[in-house]
Order: sequence, then C-alpha cells, then structure tokens
Amino acid sequence: MLRVEVMEERRLGPVVGLGTWQTFDGDHMLARRVVDAALGAGMRVFDSSPMYGQAERSLGAALAERRSECTVATKIWAPSVDEGRRQFDQQLSFFGGRVDVEQIHNLVAWREHLPWLLAEQDAGRIERLGVTHYTESAFGELCEALRTGSFQVVQLPYNPWERACERELLPLAAELGVAVIVMRPVGGSGGDHRRRLELDDATREALGVSTWGEALLRWALADERVDVVIPATTRPARAEENARAGDGTTLTSEQRTLVEQLASSTGRPSGSG
Ligand SMILES: NC(=O)c1ccc[n+]([C@@H]2O[C@H](COP(=O)([O-])OP(=O)(O)OC[C@H]3O[C@@H](n4cnc5c(N)ncnc54)[C@H](OP(=O)(O)O)[C@@H]3O)[C@@H](O)[C@H]2O)c1
Repeated sequence: MLRVEVMEERRLGPVVGLGTWQTFDGDHMLARRVVDAALGAGMRVFDSSPMYGQAERSLGAALAERRSECTVATKIWAPSVDEGRRQFDQQLSFFGGRVDVEQIHNLVAWREHLPWLLAEQDAGRIERLGVTHYTESAFGELCEALRTGSFQVVQLPYNPWERACERELLPLAAELGVAVIVMRPVGGSGGDHRRRLELDDATREALGVSTWGEALLRWALADERVDVVIPATTRPARAEENARAGDGTTLTSEQRTLVEQLASSTGRPSGSG
C-alpha cells in the first residue's frame, strides 16, 4: 500500500489525524500498533478524551518518544472544576506536561471550566482551547462559546450525512479564524453499513480514490474551512489507508456531489463519543 509520508498541512498540522473513541481503551499494544502506523503514514494530530476509558493513557504511552512531533487534542469532560482539574493533571502526566489542544467535551460545564483553562493556557501548559459537540441541537451553544473569543478550535461532525454545521458553525469558525477538527469523518462508529459501500472501478476512477473511506475523508477535506479529519480505527493498515486522503489532492465540486449521491443511498450515522 502506498504510504503518504508528507501530508498537506493546515493550521493544526497534517490534515489527517487519528481519533480514539471506542478503539484503544486500555489495549496498550493495539494503541501502539495503530499509532506507529499512523505516525509512519504522516499523521500528527491525535484526539482523545477522559470519556474514552483508558484511551488517553494508551495514547500517551504509544506516543512516548515521538510526543514532541505530535499535536495532542484531548478534552475535559467533567461536571465540576475539581473533577476537570483532576483530569488535566492526569493528562499532563500522560502527555509530557502539556496539552496542545484542550477541548471542553460536549460543552459540559464550559462556562465553569473556561477561567481555569484560560489560566493554564497563560501558564503555557495548554496551547489552544477548543469546544466540541456531536449533535446539531447543541450547535447554537457551540456558536455562543466561539463568540466569547476564548476558543481557537472547534470540533464538530461533518460528513455527507451530517451537514448541519454548514449553516452557521463553519461560517462562524471561518469568520473568527477558529480551526476546525472534524469528528465522525467516515460516518461515525456504529454506522458500519454506511462504510461498507463497495465502489466499482468506474466510480473509483471518477473520484480518483481507492476506497469509499478515502472518498469520505477527501469529501470533508475539500472544504477549506476544515483543518483536520480524525477517523478512528483499530487497524494499522486502515490508518495508512486513511492517511492517503491527506496527499493534498482536492475533490472537484462534481466529485464531491458524486460522493453525496453515493452516501444518500445509505442511512444516517449514530453514536455520541
Ligand atoms: N463529542 C465529541 O467530542 C466527539 C464525538 C464523536 C467523535 N469524536 C472524536 O472523533 C473521532 C472520530 O469519530 P468516530 O470514531 O465517532 O467515527 P469515525 O472515525 O467516522 O468512524 C470510526 C469507525 O470507522 C471505521 N473506519 C475508520 N476508517 C475507515 C475506512 N477508511 N473505511 C471504513 N471504515 C473505517 C473504524 O473501524 P475499524 O476499527 O474497523 O477500522 C471505526 O469503527 C473519535 O474517535 C473521537 O476521537 C469526538
């Protein structure tokens, strides 16, 4: 399989990164194999959360000696400031004393967390602050958070089945200069039937891709407001396959429309990580 060692870069680094929801948990060996493949294929952005079981610990161990090359985007997922601070202390131990992108997961207690996170950013232990949410009904509040001017990153779902962010969130992020991380770029874990689409030779040729997964990642990256897509996987070979979508070749608007037509023959994604 062709490996992409030099990937297109946008504001957060190489445009294809790796998510860790429901993939690593406490399996250090699996995490190491997937992360090694991801790094070898040029990925540098790694997303996690205290919500993902032991994934942060596994990711930290897997990055180990190569931590300085990477952008760790993790999250605070806590109803109280005390619990959030405990999560942050653990992250400092997992990730070499700093977090590159600290996101408030699903906006949980974001107004309460913001002051201490800003102080940590001032102290240099956090580089960028972000907010995330997976559901359209929370996008209004995500916009409200972005309008405070305190966040440099937003993480949102974006794939041919979930395009609600195109209405207000993506335009606002562009207006404010906020970087965009795309969760669920291949349709979200739990949506297996959507990912199993087999492309025939003519469609592969028309799209300039080898697989449907690659087509979905290229679809999201064709939007210039997107900085990085973070597909999760338990398979090293798939991390390499996904990295190919970051080679800088952009889908034309006709190719993008074809991806949307193909996607419409499948269902809607589910899952909330
Ligand atoms: N609220 C939030 O902040 C939030 C919510 C959701 C997600 N996230 C973040 O975003 C990341 C990505 O979202 P997600 O994990 O929900 O969904 P996703 O990345 O769209 O889908 C992951 C699933 O797709 C499969 N897959 C990966 N690459 C593939 C390809 N090229 N072709 C076919 N199947 C492929 C994986 O299975 P295999 O293991 O078999 O490859 C895995 O089951 C998460 O891991 C997490 O880090 C954040």
